[in-house]
Amino acid sequence: MKRKIQNNLSQKYSRGIIAIHWITALLILALFPLGKYMSSLEPSEKMGLLKIHAIFGAVVFFLTLLRSYFFFKSKRPNDLKTGSKFNDKLAVLIHNLFYFLLIGIALAGFAVMVLGGYVDALKSGNLDLILSNTELASLKAHGLLATIMMILLVLHVVGVMKHYLLTKENTLKRIL
Ligand code: HEM
Repeated sequence: MKRKIQNNLSQKYSRGIIAIHWITALLILALFPLGKYMSSLEPSEKMGLLKIHAIFGAVVFFLTLLRSYFFFKSKRPNDLKTGSKFNDKLAVLIHNLFYFLLIGIALAGFAVMVLGGYVDALKSGNLDLILSNTELASLKAHGLLATIMMILLVLHVVGVMKHYLLTKENTLKRIL
């Protein structure tokens, strides 16, 4: 049976939140494959890409902090109703987890830069200061959190599509 439309889609997120949402989404879609690609390279081959990765990652970090501030300070549209209490809760859980995961990924990334010897290598130009990837717990945490986040990202997109198919509500309107 087709579910009834139950959300007011004229309620929108603020312009700032919308801009942060899409800039962050694009940066994450670039950062994940870039990170995976870099891990297969030798230090001499990856320093240029590493700088780009670290700068884009730092931008995501600061945008996420800003977005967390807006979360509490600016008015937000009501949470979406899907017709299933479980799905409603899952959507809110995934949205909130993104904040924690992005901050965790970035902090682990900063730790890799320092503990893995990347900062020293960049300062001195001596690539021998970079530790082997297998020795770095912070890199394992960084990669694991990033993978969990990508799985949630897929669920997030599936949620939008499922919502559209079940109720014909284009929930993207709230974030465009
Ligand atoms: C916030 C979004 C970010 C995402 C989605 C992301 C994703 C990734 C992924 C998937 C890897 C490969 C991990 C593996 O080996 O399995 C990686 C590696 C790495 N990332 Fe990030 N990252 C982000 C932010 C950052 C930040 C903020 C920094 C530091 C400022 C950073 C520094 C690094 C470093 C140093 C590596 C290791 C590269 C290597 O030597 O192989 N990342 N990242």
